[in-house]
Amino acid sequence: MIKIIVGAQFGDEGKGKLVDVISKKADVVVRYQGGNNAGHTVVVGSKTFKLHLIPSGIIHKKRSLIGAGVQIDPEVLYGEIKALEKNGIFVSSLLGIDFRAQIIMPWHKLMDGVKGGKIGTTKRGIGPSYADRTAREGIRFEALLMPKEFKKKVKEIYGEKKKILQLYGVKIEPESKIVKKYLKLGKKLKKYLCDVSLEINNNNKRILMEGAQGTLLDNDFGTYPYVTSSHPIAGGAIIGVGFGPKEVTSVEGVVKAYTTRVGNGPFPTELKNRTGDIIREKGNEFGTTTGRPRRVGWLDIPLLRLSNTLNGFDGIHLTKLDVLVDLKKIKIADYYVYKGEKYKVLSLREEFVKKAKPHYIIMNGFTTEEVVTLKGNALKYVEKIEKLLKLPVLSVSIGPERAQIIFRTKERI
Ligand code: GDP
Ligand code: IMO
Ligand code: MG
Repeated sequence: MIKIIVGAQFGDEGKGKLVDVISKKADVVVRYQGGNNAGHTVVVGSKTFKLHLIPSGIIHKKRSLIGAGVQIDPEVLYGEIKALEKNGIFVSSLLGIDFRAQIIMPWHKLMDGVKGGKIGTTKRGIGPSYADRTAREGIRFEALLMPKEFKKKVKEIYGEKKKILQLYGVKIEPESKIVKKYLKLGKKLKKYLCDVSLEINNNNKRILMEGAQGTLLDNDFGTYPYVTSSHPIAGGAIIGVGFGPKEVTSVEGVVKAYTTRVGNGPFPTELKNRTGDIIREKGNEFGTTTGRPRRVGWLDIPLLRLSNTLNGFDGIHLTKLDVLVDLKKIKIADYYVYKGEKYKVLSLREEFVKKAKPHYIIMNGFTTEEVVTLKGNALKYVEKIEKLLKLPVLSVSIGPERAQIIFRTKERI
């Protein structure tokens, strides 16, 4: 049984918290794409875990796998393992890394630093490393564990990369230093090598695929070029882990009760006013990975309809409803108007994105009491979303803690 959990907007929907909660009933949790551009927060009592590469299921001590589609910065991964161990979560027997996953090298991070400004990337080397993967100039995780082969590959690739970096006036490290550092990390990570595709295929385990980033950041289907370099959509799990589409039992979207976006790119329902500032402060909307303030806006139903088209959701998990308390009025974009016509689904054609204007419905605000009991105007907000999207809201998250979630249907995996 495979359940895919997908970020339905621009990332940071609260995937980490949700996956942590539902992984209690899973056997295996798998990350399927992206890298340490992701920042997934899990709060357990007084402890806050910020995970960038390791699936959130690790906190529940579940088998936690990193699929072939992921880009791995070995230094970040090792740091994350150590941080978990400090908090009593011994990763050794739990973590597995697919031999095909790829390594982020120093030149990827340097190139991202040089070229990622226009998009507002996380500068973690994601774009350049995926580009090299596609160009067949990437280094797989298994190569990191084979010193002779690794050295040879670095020699081959770095010779050319150095020249390009020098063109941009970037200070570069000597090859020998890079090789030494990476091989040392390779030794420490060797025990995690596995074949994730084989491990999860044809077994009767309950498997959770943990999405990273969000649907609108998909390299093909998002707000290109203001996107990431991988495939956060549900289909990304299939190609990022290696299993057949018929194995999927459910696809569920994680939807923040409003919208946020980090970095540049279109955001039609963005609030550049005091209300936006209030939501940002209340929701602590500052990037888990880069600390950048997140852009904030109203919930965008046409965007979510597009997201549903791309993912085929069985239902959605609504998060951060508590953040909207005490606002007098809350707006929801229900359709767009373009050249005098109504559009129920957001189109990402350039002309549409430039000229279409969101139409809003106005909902009454709600109190904390209404949120925690999911009654009154808070329930009306949730039911309105269900009606507009024609999708069930499976759970409503009302705070960062594990217990702060209300399941509206029988929890299943
Ligand atoms: P992810 O990237 O989708 O895992 O989301 P992030 O962890 O980057 O951002 C979500 C933030 O909201 C984290 O700080 C979470 O602890 C927090 N969070 C998650 N769910 C809720 C919720 O229902 N209410 C509130 N107030 N915070 C939440
Ligand atoms: P999680 O998993 C929010 C954004 C960056 C930038 C664009 C491209 O925590 O939801 P990249 O470094 O990937 O090349 O940057 O994508 N971005 C995210 N925004 N949450 C994320 O991950 C993101 N990962 C990348 O801000 O606009
Ligand atoms: Mg995040």
